[in-house]
Amino acid sequence: MAKRDGLKNYKCLDLKDAKNDYRLREVYRDWAKKYDFDNDNVLGTVSQPKSVNLLSTRLKDKTAKIIDVGCGTGLVGEKLKAQDFIYFDGIDISEDMLSIAKYRGYRNLFLGSLNKQLPLLDNKYDAAMCVGVFTHGHVSSDRFNELCRIVKPGGYICFTINEGVFEKYEFKKMIEEFQSDKTWEVISLYKDDYMTLENVKGYYCLAVVQ
Ligand SMILES: C[S@@+](CC[C@H](N)C(=O)[O-])C[C@H]1O[C@@H](n2cnc3c(N)ncnc32)[C@H](O)[C@@H]1O
Repeated sequence: MAKRDGLKNYKCLDLKDAKNDYRLREVYRDWAKKYDFDNDNVLGTVSQPKSVNLLSTRLKDKTAKIIDVGCGTGLVGEKLKAQDFIYFDGIDISEDMLSIAKYRGYRNLFLGSLNKQLPLLDNKYDAAMCVGVFTHGHVSSDRFNELCRIVKPGGYICFTINEGVFEKYEFKKMIEEFQSDKTWEVISLYKDDYMTLENVKGYYCLAVVQ
């Protein structure tokens, strides 16, 4: 993939591409330094504060251990810190994104892909955030299992899904299956503003692992 604008390359990702993890790293390598600017000024993304607000409606223990999966440059961490959460780790596929996140208050940052097993122990966290990762060409709906593995029973999973892939990648179907087989209990699932300057909505979900 030619080295050019990360934002443009992001739209060309394809889940079925066998080299997708490699391409994801290339996209975010090229985007990392400009990501925060584009988030605010080109995309108008509001998913980070909205997701942290959603988690906060239920998670009242400010010492809870939280993992931010696909933490990127740490915009979710920044919001967690602003809400007085004191223990949050981050993990991402891109070293370049992580190199910016290290200034945003995370206890530990890890390199790993949600398309594979994450280098994290079972039942390690009280909550997992996953914001902006279930989107075009990134991660498929069968990876919800991996989020459930690293969160304790009774813990929370709070994630977003770009409206464009909600049904296309079977996220809707998988959320319902996890509910009916009692893998989790959905507390909230709704559509709301996501990338406001692109007029793209997203789904916000908060679930408790059973
Ligand atoms: C749209 S950004 C969202 C970043 C951050 N969560 C936020 O809301 O600003 C998507 C992030 O997911 C990461 N990512 C993409 N695919 C991934 C995967 N398979 N495993 C882990 N992280 C991934 C990217 O490197 C990028 O940092």
